Amino acid sequence: MQQALYHPEHGYYSSGRCVIGRKGDYFTNVSVGPLFGQLLVAQFTEIWERLGKTDDFVIVEQGAHDGQFALDVLEFAQKRLPEFFDALRYRIPEPFPILEQQQRRKLETFGDKVEWPHSLEPFAGVHFSNELLDAIPVRLITNGAEKLVGLDGDKFVFVERLGNKTIFNQAALESIDQIAANLQRGYMIAIDYGVLDEEFERNVQVRAQHRNLDSPFEQIGDADITTSVDWQSIIERAQANGLGVAGFTDQHHFLTGIISQFESGDRTQSVLANSPKAKRELQTLLHPEMLGRAFQVLGLARNVDTKTNPLAGFKFARQLDQSG
Ligand SMILES: C[S@@+](CC[C@H](N)C(=O)[O-])C[C@H]1O[C@@H](n2cnc3c(N)ncnc32)[C@H](O)[C@@H]1O
Repeated sequence: MQQALYHPEHGYYSSGRCVIGRKGDYFTNVSVGPLFGQLLVAQFTEIWERLGKTDDFVIVEQGAHDGQFALDVLEFAQKRLPEFFDALRYRIPEPFPILEQQQRRKLETFGDKVEWPHSLEPFAGVHFSNELLDAIPVRLITNGAEKLVGLDGDKFVFVERLGNKTIFNQAALESIDQIAANLQRGYMIAIDYGVLDEEFERNVQVRAQHRNLDSPFEQIGDADITTSVDWQSIIERAQANGLGVAGFTDQHHFLTGIISQFESGDRTQSVLANSPKAKRELQTLLHPEMLGRAFQVLGLARNVDTKTNPLAGFKFARQLDQSG
């Protein structure tokens, strides 16, 4: 998975061959249209208000791909929420130079409002990712047995090794350590598909041109390889790093919470009113048989009150045991 996705020359992400949308390999929330970013602006604005409308509010996005989500957020904030726009800086720590180039082109008009640091830096604001955690390489360990990649003649095959005690998602957990180490005050919001509390057989999904492939050894470097996020281990790691849980829910409830809280103001009403396109996008994002139940949203927080007043997106979330 590491080589197939991240190899500097042949990797699916690092080569720039990952294409999202109708003409690509799969759809994401972002590729549905600008409404997703616009609704998230409403959530980010509420976070900014909770941080006392600081004039140095940072949105950090990891897994920003071609910069489309950033564009949707910045355009909407500039047009509809100028005070928030003035206070905000957008940071993309992008490991893949070819994607950074695409992002720089797409976001050119925003000048130095957007920054590309080499790594995460300390910030107050919000860390956002959509389908980042599922792309971080895992090891296929179930009940102590690990599937490794071997060779049979000139073909790749799985071979099994027993007795492995390594953590299967070590790299994803380390990414949480890094975010926690840099989040001084504010929230992390991660949207992805995964499971909360079930034991399940670890596997990967392989996708190219809107088709699931049978094996990760097909179309290596031209196909995406992802895995369900194990939310429980992410939450426990975050808590071990001193972060609190701000909420966990599915995308349907998350976006419904945002819309219901802001529908009387100008943050969401104006994007939904009289726009058949926005309504179609909303249906795709919310419908349980489309993206509404496929994705979950985890909110983590540091140095903000997560107990008395949930963020709009987590108004309808179920309670988690936060004792850690
Ligand atoms: C499924 S795509 C999602 C892209 C975008 N967020 C969206 O929703 O359309 C996964 C993205 O994560 C990026 N990615 C993978 N590992 C990363 C890492 N360690 N740091 C930053 N981006 C990463 C890939 O380049 C790819 O663009």
